[in-house]
Formats: sequence, structure tokens, C-alpha cells
Amino acid sequence: MRIDIITVLPELMESPFKASILKRAMEKGVVEVHFHQLREWGIGKHRQVDDEPYGGGAGMVMMVEPIDQCISELKSQREYDEIIYLTPDGETLNQKIANTLSIKENLIFLCGHYKGIDQRVRELHITKEISIGDFVLTGGELAACVLADSVIRLIPGVLNDEQSALTDSFQDNLLSPPIYTRPEEYKGLSVPKVLLSGHAQAIEDWRYDQAVEITQNKRPDLLK
Ligand code: ADE
Repeated sequence: MRIDIITVLPELMESPFKASILKRAMEKGVVEVHFHQLREWGIGKHRQVDDEPYGGGAGMVMMVEPIDQCISELKSQREYDEIIYLTPDGETLNQKIANTLSIKENLIFLCGHYKGIDQRVRELHITKEISIGDFVLTGGELAACVLADSVIRLIPGVLNDEQSALTDSFQDNLLSPPIYTRPEEYKGLSVPKVLLSGHAQAIEDWRYDQAVEITQNKRPDLLK
């Protein structure tokens, strides 16, 4: 997979890709992430990328031309499966969206800033709009990192034990059951006996029952 990320703040985004699982995925060549500083397509000697809104109002708007030029250049080099704009008015990210994106070849993530982007960018290029939740961030960069993380970890070969993605919370609309590691007892709190029993079927049944109960208590909406 190749992800091209268009942003005015690439430096805000680099560290998540330099550690742990994402770093390993990049080293293995399973995923390539390319950052594009939008100002390189900015206008005039100040490399302007934003301007005042027509009709007045607070805040600046990201201009259509630099974004169009940048995306058009990328599109002339390869075909993209999706061109995604990170925005609070997009579809809310969930595991199903992450699963769908994890089997794509080429993605563009566009990070907005200020009041947002000129509407014509959406009309010209954007194929999908994604929000990471009903709150407003200072820009799309952190949302793009969240989206990239949720997608990249699902690409086959990224997680060592592929099972661990299959048993994630949400993968079957259930939250995960409780998990424990050593010691068997801590401050009077014991690990459930069944987990020490070595009885695989009993453990699987217990985990399933716990997952259903926890989902019922915390997120009943998932069971509907
Ligand atoms: N940009 C600003 N807020 C955002 C959000 N909640 N999700 C995605 N992009 C955003």
C-alpha cells in the first residue's frame, strides 16, 4: 500500500510512523507513506495556501488551486483508490471503514486546516470524507495519523500474529473480553480460574460470554 499525505504540517505527523508497528510495516515495505508539504504548491513568493472566505465570516479557507495542483500531480503518477479528506463533517471512522481501506493499493489523505477547504476541492477530487469523531481538532493531521494507524495494522503481514487483528474489539461487533498476565494474584485480585485451566474450549466460551456481557453493558448499540 502507498499513502500520500498532503499537509501544511508534515512535522506534526512524522513520529507515529517512526515507532513500533508502523515503523516495522514501513521497513518491511508493506506500506510506503509519503508526505507532501502543500506550501510547495502555494501561490506567489509567500507560498500562500489559504485566503479569506467569500461572503465574509471568521477564519481562513484553504485555496482550491494549490490542493488541485498537488492532487493532480499525484494522480498523473498513479491511480488512486480513494482520495480522502479528513474533516469533522465526514463519515465517522469505524473498524469496517478501516478494514475496507486496508485492502487498497493507493490512498491520498488530505489534511484540512483553518475553517476547511474550498468546496471545489471536494467536487474535483475527494472520493471519501472521514471524521474521527464528533469533536473538532486544530487540523486534519492527527486524524490522518489515527486513520493511517487503524488501516496499516490491518494490512496482512503487519501484525506478527494475524490472529490478533481478527480478535480485536469491533472486528465482530463485540468488545474484547478481559485479559490477564502474571501474577496469578495481585492485591487480592485473582485471574479467573478458567484461564488457568488449560481447557481451550472452556476458555473460548468464557471469552465469548464475557465479550457479549461487556458489549451489552458498555456499548449496547453494537449488538443491534
Ligand atoms: N479535522 C478537524 N477535526 C477533525 C475530526 N474530528 N476528524 C477528522 N478531521 C478533522
